[in-house]
Amino acid sequence: MTKRRIAILGSTGSIGRQALDIVSRHPDLFQVVALSAHSQAETLFEQVRRFNPRIAALTSGERPLPEDVRGCQWYFGAESLARIASQADYDDVLVSVVGMVGLSGVLAARKAGRRVLLANKEALVAGGQLVMDLCPPGYMDPALIPVDSEHSAIYQCLMAAAGNPYERIILTASGGPFREYTMAQMRKVKPQDALKHPNWNMGAKITVDSASMFNKALEIIEARWLFHALPGQIEVLVHPQSIVHSLVAFRDGAVLAQLGLPDMRAPIAFAMAYPERIDSGTAPLRLDRLGTLHFEAPDVARFPALRLAMEALLNGGAACCILNAANEMAVEAFLSERIRFTDIAGIVEDTLGRLGRLPADSLDAVLEADRMARAEANRLIVKRTLEEA
Ligand SMILES: NC(=O)c1ccc[n+]([C@@H]2O[C@H](COP(=O)([O-])OP(=O)(O)OC[C@H]3O[C@@H](n4cnc5c(N)ncnc54)[C@H](OP(=O)(O)O)[C@@H]3O)[C@@H](O)[C@H]2O)c1
Repeated sequence: MTKRRIAILGSTGSIGRQALDIVSRHPDLFQVVALSAHSQAETLFEQVRRFNPRIAALTSGERPLPEDVRGCQWYFGAESLARIASQADYDDVLVSVVGMVGLSGVLAARKAGRRVLLANKEALVAGGQLVMDLCPPGYMDPALIPVDSEHSAIYQCLMAAAGNPYERIILTASGGPFREYTMAQMRKVKPQDALKHPNWNMGAKITVDSASMFNKALEIIEARWLFHALPGQIEVLVHPQSIVHSLVAFRDGAVLAQLGLPDMRAPIAFAMAYPERIDSGTAPLRLDRLGTLHFEAPDVARFPALRLAMEALLNGGAACCILNAANEMAVEAFLSERIRFTDIAGIVEDTLGRLGRLPADSLDAVLEADRMARAEANRLIVKRTLEEA
């Protein structure tokens, strides 16, 4: 494998740090050319000292730089993601920022003809059509490789399918920490309860999304775009151990699955080294030691996120963008204890209900739908906060 130059947007996050771990394991295979962070400036400075990129960016804005990190080019502010993606001299960009802010970087990278390694699911949920219009289909020379473990699993199963069409995509879901909670129990949970994922160690937003199953809702929409799936072809299967990362069913009855221990370094390394396979540092899977694997159907009544994702897909237009924006706002409000955990789905549903069908046929239309949804969700959050007081 020839050395690949990588830019990492969101290098201080859970995915970004694991990607840098893979770079450290394979200094002969990867060269870091650009890094970005939002609020963790000190962590970024450490990364700059260690990986010596040509460009570094702080998207939260300008601040004084220590003497020993001034050797690289610095960008400041929200537009840094698109600046890096369009200007830096790199082969692949790992987009691992959290939230719809990632969309600008994904679009800029694709317009520059670069390979995108996509962890950031919100970009695809909000602007799926815009992103996929810039990505010619194909597994041999891909424009975009998913990093999400479920989509990486499906991608690998489809590679093995050698072009044969699939019947169904089956996304596995751990079910999160509240899988067995009643609605009454879920009404009482606090942010610290939702931030304890049974299997994965991830950033705060995706951990809350996993608890509400909005993470799976976003992944349903992600799968629709990545694999050109119809909503009826995507299913969710609860699998608490997170060993089977997802499955693909074919016409002849065969079902392919991809398995591994829950360690994001495996799908990150798969994307970074594609089409080659490298050591990711993940421990080997020993099924004999695990004994049994458990599967069950999701409970859509307790976790309405799955129904909302299917409805948003069927409604089309900017519905998925609205769902994402309202969810981002609601998760933030839950983490700052302004609303209850069980309010999250209600706020998303009410925002979708109030905004109806907005268009999503241009970047401006997507950004406008996102802005309107955030304003509406915020209004609903304030109303609920006042009702509780
Ligand atoms: N973690 C996982 O295992 C996992 C698995 C599958 C998919 N994903 C997806 O990958 C993405 C990142 O997840 P994560 O768990 O790594 O999140 P995280 O730990 O919260 O990290 C998020 C990264 O984005 C940066 N960031 C935050 N707000 C930003 C903003 N407004 N503008 C630009 N950058 C911003 C953060 O910078 P600072 O830290 O400097 O503030 C950090 O580098 C999410 O979309 C998530 O759904 C994650």
